[in-house]
Amino acid sequence: MASATFGVTVMDENHIYQRDCIEGLAELPEGSVDLVFADPPFNIGYKYDVYEDKKAADDYLNWTRQWGAGVYRALKPTGTFWLAIGDDFAAELKILFQRELGFICRSWVLWYYTFGVHCKFKFARSHTHLFHFVKAAAGFTFNDAEIRVPSARALVYADSRADPAGRLPDDTWILRPQDAPQAFKPDEDVWYVPRVCGTFKERAGWHGCQMPEQILGRIIRVSSNPGELIVDPFGGSGSTLVTAKKLGRRYIGFELSPEYAARIATRLDETRTGEPLLGSVEPLTSAPSTRDGKTIRTKHTAPTEAAPPELFANAES
Ligand SMILES: C[S@@+](CC[C@H](N)C(=O)[O-])C[C@H]1O[C@@H](n2cnc3c(N)ncnc32)[C@H](O)[C@@H]1O
Repeated sequence: MASATFGVTVMDENHIYQRDCIEGLAELPEGSVDLVFADPPFNIGYKYDVYEDKKAADDYLNWTRQWGAGVYRALKPTGTFWLAIGDDFAAELKILFQRELGFICRSWVLWYYTFGVHCKFKFARSHTHLFHFVKAAAGFTFNDAEIRVPSARALVYADSRADPAGRLPDDTWILRPQDAPQAFKPDEDVWYVPRVCGTFKERAGWHGCQMPEQILGRIIRVSSNPGELIVDPFGGSGSTLVTAKKLGRRYIGFELSPEYAARIATRLDETRTGEPLLGSVEPLTSAPSTRDGKTIRTKHTAPTEAAPPELFANAES
């Protein structure tokens, strides 16, 4: 059973540990982890309950260097590391992880979402960077068949040359259904997954940075196999661990905040292996359920250019 464990020295699996991830990572056996997903604080002054998200830039980079070295050490030689990071430090962290720590960057994915905070004198932020790093240029897990999407040939052009197995998504992953038909194709590198909005059933409601299970599901399915070990150094709301458990992976998480760690433990206790991931599997043709069970259809009484007919086809109820 999952539980928050305090002050432990032996690292049990399938646990969230309430502790500093730098210490926690150092206690993992060297070369033991298959996949690390890290969504650290972005150093933008975000309000967490314990962590102060406003360090001097050099302090933030030094701190990143420390936990980053811990990730590198804990990963198997064939291991994979996914990093979620905002604009402010994306460029510096890419260089740090590549040049200083020795990771190889396979893809720089953009996760595009909407409902970002509206700004008056600049454009609203609508993306997060997802870096796909590996330790070695060969031998890492990449289960492409697990995450293929229908190609434009199949979806738009009814082209008989379309591969029935689909193709790999492009490296921009988009989250807003109404924009996708016009702006992005599903086989591109914009990942098309909605942010976990306040009204969504998926929303845990007590952590402002909750990542969608569909984003984590794609990362975990492509970069690990069932039964393998996944580590999240920055537990937050626990989405990585919940998704790992649903997908039959082993997991270890760290989280500084006692309150978040306890809530993650509860979320994990309520999660069963094999349960479906929350959110739209294919947001181009389905919309996520809200807590009240509302769908796109209840918002738009008739198809419009912004909400074309195909969006109504598979809307979940
Ligand atoms: C951006 S949030 C992670 C959100 C998470 N990906 C999710 O889907 O909910 C970053 C989290 O890291 C935690 N944190 C900050 N410093 C930490 C440290 N040194 N060790 C462990 N956790 C830390 C914060 O308390 C915060 O909950």
